[in-house]
Amino acid sequence: MRAAFRAHSENAPDPAELIEFVPQDYFARAEMSDLFPRPAPLELDLGCGEGGFLVAMAAKHPDHNFLGVERLLGRVRKVCRMVVHHQLENARLLRLETAHTLRYVLPKESVSVAHVLFPDPWPKRHHQRHRLIQDGFMEALHGILVPGGELRIKTDDEPYFMWMEKVLARAKGYERLDWPEDPEYPQTNFERRFVAQGLPIYRARLRKV
Ligand SMILES: C[S@@+](CC[C@H](N)C(=O)[O-])C[C@H]1O[C@@H](n2cnc3c(N)ncnc32)[C@H](O)[C@@H]1O
Repeated sequence: MRAAFRAHSENAPDPAELIEFVPQDYFARAEMSDLFPRPAPLELDLGCGEGGFLVAMAAKHPDHNFLGVERLLGRVRKVCRMVVHHQLENARLLRLETAHTLRYVLPKESVSVAHVLFPDPWPKRHHQRHRLIQDGFMEALHGILVPGGELRIKTDDEPYFMWMEKVLARAKGYERLDWPEDPEYPQTNFERRFVAQGLPIYRARLRKV
C-alpha cells in the first residue's frame, strides 16, 4: 500500500486506484492478505456513501483496517481520493453490492465490526424487498463475523427501524447489546444532515455469540 503514496508520474498508476480493492475472483472468498498487507481487526462500512465516517474511523483507529463497500462508482472514486489525501494506509474501498460481498467475497470469520449506517429505507411497500437488513443478510453476516464480532446499525427512518427490529429479533446466533451515546463514534455525512434537522436517530448493536 505504501506505493499508493508515491508521487504520481505519467507511468505510475493513479494512487487512488490502488485504494480500491478489486477482487481477482468475484465468486471466491478473498484472503485477508489480499485486502490489507498488515493483519489487524477488520471493520466494514457497508454502503459507505461519501466516506466521512470511514475516513474519520480509519484516522482515529490506525490499529484497525477499514473496508468501505459502496455500489456507486462516483462515490467510490471520491472516497479513494480522500483516503490518499489523508494518507491512510488502513482504509480501502470495494465497489460491489453488499449482499454479494458478504456471501461470496469476504473471508469467513474475518470481520470484527460491520457498520450499517443510514441504509436506503426503500419506503414503498413493493420496494421493501430491496432493503439491506433482511434474514439472508443476518445469516451471511454471521458467517463472516469473528466470534464476538459486532453489527452496528443507525437509521433516521422509523418504519425501516421497526422492520429491522423484527429481523434482528429472529436472527439466530446474535445477542443484543446496549449502545449508549458515544461522542467518539464519528457522524456520517447523512447523519449530520438529519441531526441538523433535529430528526431522531434509531440505533441497534448486536454481537455474534
Ligand atoms: C443513504 S446512503 C448513506 C451513506 C452513508 N452510510 C452515510 O450515512 O452518510 C446509502 C448508501 O448505500 C449505498 N448502497 C445502497 N445499497 C447498497 C448495496 N446493496 N450495496 C452497496 N452499497 C449500497 C448507496 O449507494 C448510498 O451511497
